[in-house]
Amino acid sequence: MNEGASERGMIFDTTLRDGEQAPGCSMTLQEKMRVASALRDLRVDVIEAGFPAASPGDFEAVRAIAAEIEGPVICGLARCHAGDIERAWNALQGARRPRIHVFIATSEIHRTHKLQMAKEEIIRRAVESVRLARSLCPDVEFSAEDASRTEPGYLAEVVTAAIEAGARTINVPDTLGYTVPDEFFDLFGYLRQHVPGVDAVTLSVHCHDDLGMAVANSLAAVRAGARQVECTINGIGERAGNCSLEEVVMALRTRAGHFGIGTSIDTRRLYPTSRLVASITGMHVPRNKAVVGENAFAHESGIHQDGMLKHASTYEIMRPEDVGISRSNLVLGKHSGRHAFRERVQHLGFNLDEDDLNRAFAEFKKLADRKKEMFDADIEAIVMSSDAGGSGPWAIEELHISAGTGAIAAGAVRVRHADGRLVDEASVGDGPIEAAFKALERATGINMDLRNFEVRSVTTGEDAQGEVTVTVEYNGHSFRGLGVSTDIVEAAAFAYLDVINRVCRRALVPGGDAARGRGQVATV
Ligand code: KIV
Ligand code: ZN
Repeated sequence: MNEGASERGMIFDTTLRDGEQAPGCSMTLQEKMRVASALRDLRVDVIEAGFPAASPGDFEAVRAIAAEIEGPVICGLARCHAGDIERAWNALQGARRPRIHVFIATSEIHRTHKLQMAKEEIIRRAVESVRLARSLCPDVEFSAEDASRTEPGYLAEVVTAAIEAGARTINVPDTLGYTVPDEFFDLFGYLRQHVPGVDAVTLSVHCHDDLGMAVANSLAAVRAGARQVECTINGIGERAGNCSLEEVVMALRTRAGHFGIGTSIDTRRLYPTSRLVASITGMHVPRNKAVVGENAFAHESGIHQDGMLKHASTYEIMRPEDVGISRSNLVLGKHSGRHAFRERVQHLGFNLDEDDLNRAFAEFKKLADRKKEMFDADIEAIVMSSDAGGSGPWAIEELHISAGTGAIAAGAVRVRHADGRLVDEASVGDGPIEAAFKALERATGINMDLRNFEVRSVTTGEDAQGEVTVTVEYNGHSFRGLGVSTDIVEAAAFAYLDVINRVCRRALVPGGDAARGRGQVATV
């Protein structure tokens, strides 16, 4: 627990439920399992693994996480419907410490326009649902959706009824990111005064970031007595996102004297977990993001650097190593062996199996030939991109691009499917990147609408790797993909192939992932 903290606050992670709901952040079952394992290692108290009634995929993910992840409480979300609650309970069967989380909206706007239910009916539904959940599971959480825009007197009535029906945790969401810290502090104070039995349950806070105050509002709730904070890695989530786990945890730790609340989080796992979630969702962490952004511990101005050299605490309120970032990150070179590479990869928080490690090591060797200095960020990029491409089913075997001023850009690719097919295709385009994308679409038979294209440099220097993120729309779904290379056209092609593979793996292609390449099929 944090030094100076006298009480413990629980960290409830909803990356796999509220975070995964964000456009483009959907994850496969395998990806969810990797995130769930990382959350266990981070030592969160509760993992909200999904919303089992939402889809068969959600059900399966909650079931698999409940069966395999030991340590944290595993939670499944349910609306106040018997069917949802039973489905959540079925999915949670394998969990050592299951929790059912039921919710219903309580604000006037939601009552009138969404639910078309009277106040009494909502209370009745909440009570019946909490009772049903309690008859199945000893640990039940109740959430009053849009609580911050609900009349405080009515909110207190709903919450009182939910506690009497058996809820052990009462969650107060700021669903629309509308509240401000002092108002939210007062609302928690009001509930603590007006809800009988409130001290026997855990008060929880769940904030969205529409006005950029999710972390501040969550901390205000903690000051007012909340002892569970609901948050996501990198703050991913609906619209502007949720309260960011790493920020709230480090605020509680760094200002332990002020808050007096500790957490069980292993803060040295924050950075690796952040990178893992960014790589899986393709949702970049901005360079200036608090705690885990690349610039979070970079000192540029001469005065700051001078101060840092004299004493780090002059310009640093947290130590990078406390959040899992190493100070000196010039690590390996082309003569480094597999053993040193494995150790570095593990230190960076990745648990690769032998096949993934071998694939990443081969990429590392290739890159080390092209690049003088290898930094942690290079190694992360290799691991993340080889992992993205490695999950197939398609892989690029060859890529040829020709372009120039006054010349038509043309791209030719040879791609291999996991079933052994080898497909050659070519296309022209407005530029080399478009030519590569079109050739890949023709070869794999998957046509997508490109919505966003971003390039950033992984490290600094002339030989730095370029990291490309693409966002596409396919059949009404949004997908992100990531590619890394010292050549940005190649990085773009890898990123595009990554989304093609995500589309295939989500089985959105008619006939499952069996996308029929339209190009010339070569014999294998
Ligand atoms: O934002 C919200 O209100 C929610 C609830 C389901 C807890 O996510
Ligand atoms: Zn939410």
